Amino acid sequence: MTSYIEHIPVLLQESVEALITDKEGFYVDGTLGGGGHSKEILKHLGENGRLYGIDQDDEALEAASANIGDDPRFIPIKGNFGYLTTLLPPQTHGQIAGILLDLGVSTHQIKEPERGFSFQEDGPLDMRMGNLSGVSAYQVVNEYDYEKLRDIIFHYGEEKQSRKIAREIIEARPIETTGELRDVVSSVVNKRFEVKSLARVFQGIRIEVNRELEMLENVMEHSLEVLKPGGRIVAISYHSLEDRIAKRFFKAGNFKGKIEKDFYGNPISPIKPVNKQVITPTKEEVSVNPASRSAKLRVAEKVEGGES
Ligand SMILES: C[S@@+](CC[C@H](N)C(=O)[O-])C[C@H]1O[C@@H](n2cnc3c(N)ncnc32)[C@H](O)[C@@H]1O
Repeated sequence: MTSYIEHIPVLLQESVEALITDKEGFYVDGTLGGGGHSKEILKHLGENGRLYGIDQDDEALEAASANIGDDPRFIPIKGNFGYLTTLLPPQTHGQIAGILLDLGVSTHQIKEPERGFSFQEDGPLDMRMGNLSGVSAYQVVNEYDYEKLRDIIFHYGEEKQSRKIAREIIEARPIETTGELRDVVSSVVNKRFEVKSLARVFQGIRIEVNRELEMLENVMEHSLEVLKPGGRIVAISYHSLEDRIAKRFFKAGNFKGKIEKDFYGNPISPIKPVNKQVITPTKEEVSVNPASRSAKLRVAEKVEGGES
């Protein structure tokens, strides 16, 4: 493999501290990446503790395994966290003490031109985090119809100039590389906000390619099956669409964020937030690692009887 570009773990101490409630418990790192968080989690676990490290990206699994080294408490698993219940051994269901999700892409994925995630590098239009995803960015950019493309740019990219951009992309087809896509988008957007618009368009396509929001909703629901009562889910998100899913689910156990009531009008939710306020990186962390600037950390706990 190409050498793994270092990823600095975000909100490392804050997330690991929030995650671990039992040193001998079973934990899941759903987004292993370079293994930065996993390595720290293992430092805090006792000899009977276990950590299942999941990633859909072979390059991440290889890098994390090398970074962590031989540790019988660490079990790497290739797969998409959206299928959490099928990835974890059945005997762990209902026994997991904590799940960490450090969402989005790693520095390696963004900076490696061959992966096709970045408008700052020229590479093939790929953007698949792993080889398990169905479509590539090439298919989205070159094969989706106008309405679908416009909606992805608008809803997943949160880019207001989605109509203009979608029309221009269709006009310029075929588009082969990230550099060509960048030039097409740049040719129609407001120059003052060019970099922001590019980031939004690329984000929208990436979310579509990896079905990121759907997988996030899946893992939230699966978490209720695998966590033990009092077990925690710790999510670090990097944009408002992800954060909204975590916030609503942690509050109410559903994606509307509306707490259901029982017959007597008492609120019932299978999960409850641990921290009222969202946790964000300190100024010092952002200055050392600008990639952490949009990070938001939320923590929730499964309540007794909170099975899905
Ligand atoms: C932000 S990085 C994690 C970095 C890691 N915490 C560290 O400190 O080294 C996100 C990682 O999660 C993986 N990932 C994202 N969504 C995933 C999903 N649905 N299933 C499995 N892995 C996923 C990506 O491939 C990437 O390696």
